[in-house]
Order: sequence, then structure tokens, then C-alpha cells
Amino acid sequence: MSAIRFSAKADPGTAIGKTACLVLPLAPGQKLGRREKQIDSACGGAISAALKNGDFTGTAGSNLMLHCGGDIARVLLAGTGSDKPDRDCLSKLTASTARAIQESQAGDARWHAPTLKVDKKDRDWFYRTLAKDGITTSYRYTKTLSKPKANTKLKRVNVSLGAGSDSKAIKTALTEGCSLGDGINFARELANLPANICTPEYLAKQARAIAQKSGKASCKVLNEKAMRDLGMESLLSVTAGTVTPARLIVLEYRGGKRGAAPHALVGKGITFDSGGISLKPGAKMDEMKFDMGGAASVLGAMHAVVSMRLPINVVMVVAAAENMPSGTATKPGDVVRSMAGITIEILNTDAEGRLVLCDALTYVERFKPASVVDAATLTGACIVALGSQASGLYANNDKLANELLAAGEESRDRAWRMPLWDEYQRQLDSNFADLANIGGPGAGSVTAACFLSRFAKAYPWAHLDIAGSAWNSAPKGATGRPVGLLTQYLMDRAQV
Ligand code: BES
Ligand code: MN
Ligand code: ZN
Repeated sequence: MSAIRFSAKADPGTAIGKTACLVLPLAPGQKLGRREKQIDSACGGAISAALKNGDFTGTAGSNLMLHCGGDIARVLLAGTGSDKPDRDCLSKLTASTARAIQESQAGDARWHAPTLKVDKKDRDWFYRTLAKDGITTSYRYTKTLSKPKANTKLKRVNVSLGAGSDSKAIKTALTEGCSLGDGINFARELANLPANICTPEYLAKQARAIAQKSGKASCKVLNEKAMRDLGMESLLSVTAGTVTPARLIVLEYRGGKRGAAPHALVGKGITFDSGGISLKPGAKMDEMKFDMGGAASVLGAMHAVVSMRLPINVVMVVAAAENMPSGTATKPGDVVRSMAGITIEILNTDAEGRLVLCDALTYVERFKPASVVDAATLTGACIVALGSQASGLYANNDKLANELLAAGEESRDRAWRMPLWDEYQRQLDSNFADLANIGGPGAGSVTAACFLSRFAKAYPWAHLDIAGSAWNSAPKGATGRPVGLLTQYLMDRAQV
């Protein structure tokens, strides 16, 4: 549940009313109109003085907090960058404004929207982003701190609309933005939690809780015995070295027509990746608690879909396990048989993500999905290729790839398409099995995707390698990506 409430109503145009922080968006050189002059005089001329002395320029994302006292305690001048701001400018505006308000002690804020000219095609996007940024800015990790960090004081944000605004559409967009922001924060929290708390069973609990909140969702959790009965030897090879039990988590949401093919989301849920017998070096190994970032993001997207009540069917599958070395762990050279019947030579136990995902991709066939999108912190090589800006996108279907690229642009949670050419597939040849689990030194993110593609032939499928986008190293913390992209993709499929 969002800690901040968003509402919108027409500016009455008479009394200014009380607010702890009035947000006044202004373009470079923008003159104050009649209404803004009224606000200025209610603030003892603080706004016109700031404009006159040049302290506020109106550059996109620039802010100046003025302290007025009286009914309007503060005015936040917020730069729009242009009198016709594009989405780049607008997202700088929403993000910097959310930060500036929440760094103050203001308990409520009021956006004065009439000074801002948002193009009609950007309107819903803008209000969705405004609410989303408000919610994500308020996130604090506190679960394992004995002295909690100061929370934002902000409780309410009201948008004052100009005459002729479609307040119904704007309210809907604000509500969507809250659902999206909550989904993102939910994913960040799960990924930030340490691996001694966030275990496979903990992830299962989160999925059950989502199902319980919605009358249209159900959750089924498979234990290791059930997975063994299904022949998921590949997934189980990853959990062989740990005492923490693995889970296959299945969450079905039926918001759409009965019988309509669901869209499937599949998440890599390695709650800790030590590398196993192919042990990772010690430096930054703590960051491998984030190796369930794919699982966190599909849970976050489900959280958003359920709270938006999207008229669509979605099924989520998370393959959750811990990858540890021990006397019972899988050894390099071991050969296992996947649920699909394809045998795999495990040449490196640190390439475990693909080993759990391949069985989840086979499992999801039973839902006869319209599309399958998996999200996984799969390869360090993807960070080398794309850094943290873009998630790596692979697909066996151009239409699906383009829909995901578009959803990434729309949500500003972008992906970049990578090749899945046949020529790369032979890097996975093995003398001792149908497939090796590593593909040699070159194109590591591509060969990992090639491995997955062998198990995803029954449906339109895409894979997001989020190793670079799912968390930041300094300061350390989960980003909640790609919840924005996935949720937008599903909103587009539901045509809302
Ligand atoms: N979880 C890692 C990928 C990863 C590494 C994500 C660093 C984020 C930061 C994955 O399981 C892994 O270990 N991949 C190996 C594959 C290799 C053994 C072929 C890698 O990237 O080194
Ligand atoms: Mn690994
Ligand atoms: Zn991993």
C-alpha cells in the first residue's frame, strides 16, 4: 500500500488555500500569469524575487525551494526545461520534484498544473510518472536496521488542474502510477533483503500473499519432491549443495476472459549465488543476494497487475533456489537430465541461472501461454556489453521483441535487443551431453540466452538479462527494474 495518497481536482481559481508545499512548474523565462501572481503575493513576492535575481533558471530538473510561511508554507519552483517539455524534460521534472519535496518536512504538496503545458499524447504518461516517482522516492530499506531511517513526511499530493482538464483520466493515471510505484518498491525490498531472510520459501510466501489479496489469483508452490516427480533434475542440481529447500512458485492471475491464453512471466530466483563448487571470488560476493532480482521483478509486476486489476490473464513462475558448495553439491562435469529430456553437462556450477530457468521454461508450456518473458540476473557478460542502462533483450519472435522494446521506451525502463543467431548455438556443443551449460569466453550473455532458447520452442519467448540493470553497486541497492517494463508490457496487452 502506497504511503502517499494522490488526488486531482480543478483549481477553484479563488482562494489559494493551505498547503505545506506548492509546486510551481516553470519553463526558462516563463512569465507569471494572473493566478501565479496571486500565489506570489500570498508568498510576499518570494517567487517574483527569485525569478528577478536569477536564482531559478527553469532548466529541466532544477529546483528552488522558497519558504513563505502563512497558508502556503513553501513554494517549490520546478524547472520544466522548455515551454513544450518532452518526456526527457518531464521525467527530470517529476523525479527531482519528488526528491525536493521529500527532503523537506512538508506533509502535503500541491502541484499547480496549469503553468505546465503537457502535450496531450504525454498526459496520462506524465501523471502516471508523477505518482510513480513520488512512491519510489519514498522507499527506504529499514528491515534489518536497529535505528530506522527517517521516513518521508509526505502523506498527500494533490494536483490542481486547469479548466478543461480531464480529471477522470488524470486520476486513473495517478492510481496506475501508485500501483506501479508500489510494485517497484516491493521488488526492491525483496532484492535488498539478505539471503538469510529472503530464502526460496520467503519468496513463496510473498506470492501467496499476492494471491490472497486478489480474488482472481491463486498460488501453488512445488517442493523438491514435486519437482523431482516432474523430472526437473537440472533445477535440482543447483540446490544439491545447500540445506535451504528450493521452491517452484506458480502464481496465476485471471483478470481476463475465461480460457484466454495467459501471458507468462518467469523469474530467476537464486536467493544466493556463491557459484557452488565453481566458487566465486570473495570480493563483492555479498551482491549475489541480488541474484533473485528476476524473481523480485516478476513478483513486483504481478503486484502491480493485481492492484491495477488488469483485464488480462497472467501466470508467473519463479524458480527459487540457493547455489552453495558442499559435499553434496553438483560437480563440474556432472551430467543431468532436464524436464524437457535434454541432457546437460554442467561444466561450471556458477552458470546456474540457466539450469533453474530451463526447467521453469518447460514447466510453463502447460499453460499454453500467448507469450513468455523471463527476467534473470544471468551473466556478468551482459554488464560488460550494456552496463547498467539497458537490460539485454533476446527473443525468438520479432513481434514480441518489438512490444517489449516499446514497453521499455514507454516506461523509461529500457532494453536493447541482442542477437540470438544460430551461429552462436554451437558454442554449447558437448561431447558428453546434448548441451553444455557454458559457451566459452566470447559472447557470454548471448550463449546463456542460446541455452535458454533450446527450452523455449513451444511459444513466443523473450529473455531479459538484467544483471546490469537490477541493482546499483554504489550505493548498494536494488533498482526494481524491470518492473516498469514488464508492467507496461502487460498494460499494453490489456489495452488500458
Ligand atoms: N548471477 C551470475 C551473473 C552475475 C554476475 C550477475 C555478476 C550480476 C553480477 C550468474 O549466475 C553467473 O555466475 N554467471 C557466470 C556465467 C559463467 C560461469 C559462464 C558469469 O557471468 O560469470
Ligand atoms: Mn552464478
Ligand atoms: Zn547467478
